[in-house]
Amino acid sequence: MRRLAVLLAVILGGALHAGAWAAAPMAAKAAPIKGDQCVECHKTEAKTSHAFHGECNSCHVNAGDHAKAHEAREKAKGPNKPPKVIATKPESAECLACHESDKRRMHFSIAEHNKAGVQCRDCHGNHTPKVKTLNAGMEKGGKTTALCATCHQDVLAKFSMTSHHPVKEGGATCTGCHDPHASKQATLGAATAQCTSCHQAVRGPHVFEHAPVVEGCTNCHDPHGAPNRRLLSVAQPMQCLQCHAIAGNRHALGGANNDNVSRVSGAVLRDCVSCHSAVHGSSTDQHLRF
Ligand code: HEC
Ligand code: HEC
Ligand code: HEC
Ligand code: HEC
Ligand code: HEC
Ligand code: HEC
Ligand code: HEC
Ligand code: HEC
Ligand code: HEC
Ligand code: HEC
Repeated sequence: MRRLAVLLAVILGGALHAGAWAAAPMAAKAAPIKGDQCVECHKTEAKTSHAFHGECNSCHVNAGDHAKAHEAREKAKGPNKPPKVIATKPESAECLACHESDKRRMHFSIAEHNKAGVQCRDCHGNHTPKVKTLNAGMEKGGKTTALCATCHQDVLAKFSMTSHHPVKEGGATCTGCHDPHASKQATLGAATAQCTSCHQAVRGPHVFEHAPVVEGCTNCHDPHGAPNRRLLSVAQPMQCLQCHAIAGNRHALGGANNDNVSRVSGAVLRDCVSCHSAVHGSSTDQHLRF
């Protein structure tokens, strides 16, 4: 009798333990639960789980306890029903238990999205065919952009400006430039390399570099859209005059300094690029004219 009690205590203790473990993400491997144990109450979800994601409790970590509690409640008669166990929805940590070693997910902990509290499940569904559902390989372009736009409306609006990257037209995507799983550094730090991967004609090195181009394309261009032509964040000539003063240089009118340097008259307040057309760098002219 005594031995039976001890055995019972061990089993009960074990069960309690398993419960506590299950609540902590993936700390212990609970026995895998396939959809057939859930189907009587969740017809749709039991069928729609993604092919690679067959085990319900790998994401809904306390699903076993949840199912048992509900079954017990259905059987229980009278007012004293056992309490519910609400099944968890997967936190990023649950997904990362399997996906942490994926090259693109390794740095999710320092990603802007993670820092802002955005979870994997905010972008990836597992059951429902809405925009959130991403069988990623298959859903590029339009659907991905629509997903991003659910939260980044202000950015989407820029793609309707006079000059814009053709995202709405299908010629570019948000994920062509951003990795939603990466840190800000990894996402945007390599912006210039990213830009020149498509715009090869602009790529250096040039014999005569233009410092702000080497530093970063976004010094002059808004990557999303702008009211000025060629995605310029500021209209000409103000774009250039932010850094270059006209007064006192060789464009100045007249001979205020009377220093015998030839002047380029009429340059003031004109489209600088009409003369300095090699604004991204030149192989022949230090003044970036050709
Ligand atoms: C006997 C019926 C029953 C069974 C079996 C059952 N569930 Fe549930 N489940 C429910 C009910 C009812 C709800 C609605 C919320 C609640 O009362 O817990 C629910 C809700 C859920 C939710 C949503 C929780 C939320 O945050 O809204 C998930 C996820 C879930 N169940 C997963 C499972 C999985 C996985 C299984 C199989 C291991 C399973 N359920 C088995 C009855 C059941
Ligand atoms: C890859 C992780 C993953 C697996 C595996 C998984 N689910 Fe889910 N489940 C989710 C996510 C994420 C949600 C949040 C709703 C969504 O799909 O957008 C969810 C939501 C649910 C819901 C709530 C639906 C609602 O409308 O709120 C139920 C019920 C559910 N899952 C049942 C199951 C069952 C049954 C299985 C096993 C066949 C299963 N899940 C396997 C990730 C998973
Ligand atoms: C039990 C391990 C496991 C868990 C937990 C898990 N996954 Fe997966 N997932 C896989 C495997 C295995 C694959 C297929 C191989 C691959 O693409 O890495 C996969 C594939 C994917 C894919 C690509 C699907 C495709 O069609 O190419 C996405 C997206 C994904 N998982 C998202 C998630 C999200 C979001 C979660 C958490 C809600 C999650 N996974 C939880 C194991 C898991
Ligand atoms: C801000 C939205 C967002 C978040 C948050 C997010 N993803 Fe993704 N994920 C995407 C998009 C969009 C794709 C499609 C890939 C592409 O087009 O670059 C994708 C692709 C994937 C893929 C398959 C393709 C690949 O890159 O290998 C997996 C696996 C995946 N995500 C897992 C996860 C996991 C796990 C988490 C949480 C740790 C997560 N994702 C968080 C948006 C997101
Ligand atoms: C569920 C809402 C949500 C979705 C969906 C979403 N994001 Fe975000 N995103 C955020 C939040 C919140 C932040 C952090 C606050 C901010 O800067 O707006 C953020 C930040 C970012 C940043 C960094 C911003 C910065 O200041 O450095 C980029 C880039 C980004 N998201 C791109 C994307 C892309 C691309 C997609 C689609 C694949 C996407 N987001 C989908 C909510 C979302
Ligand atoms: C051509 C490449 C490109 C495309 C396409 C693109 N982005 Fe960006 N995005 C960038 C660059 C580069 C930056 C950094 C800008 C800076 O440093 O001034 C940025 C910045 C951001 C930021 C943070 C700063 C801000 O402007 O709010 C968010 C959020 C963002 N992008 C979301 C998106 C979304 C959502 C889409 C699709 C609708 C998208 N991006 C499409 C290149 C791109
Ligand atoms: C995925 C490829 C891709 C990437 C990456 C990319 N672009 Fe573009 N860009 C395009 C396409 C496509 C067009 C439209 C070409 C056209 O209309 O002839 C374009 C057009 C432009 C234009 C000209 C707009 C006009 O009015 O003619 C500028 C300027 C530009 N991009 C700058 C950038 C900058 C800066 C970056 C980096 C932040 C960048 N691009 C990254 C594909 C890309
Ligand atoms: C100093 C400001 C400045 C910087 C920095 C800059 N651009 Fe430009 N870019 C311009 C101006 C001005 C034009 C418009 C030229 C015109 O009117 O024809 C332009 C035009 C473009 C165009 C349209 C086609 C063309 O060659 O005229 C592309 C593409 C482009 N830039 C890409 C880039 C890329 C990629 C980078 C980063 C490597 C970059 N730009 C950095 C000022 C700049
Ligand atoms: C963000 C600041 C910045 C902007 C904006 C900028 N430049 Fe420059 N530019 C520089 C710097 C820094 C140098 C290098 C100055 C030096 O070597 O004395 C330079 C050099 C030049 C030179 C070569 C100087 C020489 O000695 O011949 C020309 C020409 C030039 N820029 C034209 C332009 C034009 C045209 C625009 C507008 C499309 C422009 N810049 C926008 C910072 C800028
Ligand atoms: C009518 C043609 C023309 C226009 C328009 C023009 N430039 Fe120039 N720029 C020149 C010539 C030619 C030189 C070289 C002068 C020399 O060789 O002494 C030059 C030289 C420069 C230099 C380097 C020498 C210096 O004086 O520092 C800079 C910087 C420069 N221009 C900026 C600009 C900016 C900014 C604008 C627009 C406000 C502009 N340019 C408009 C023709 C022009």
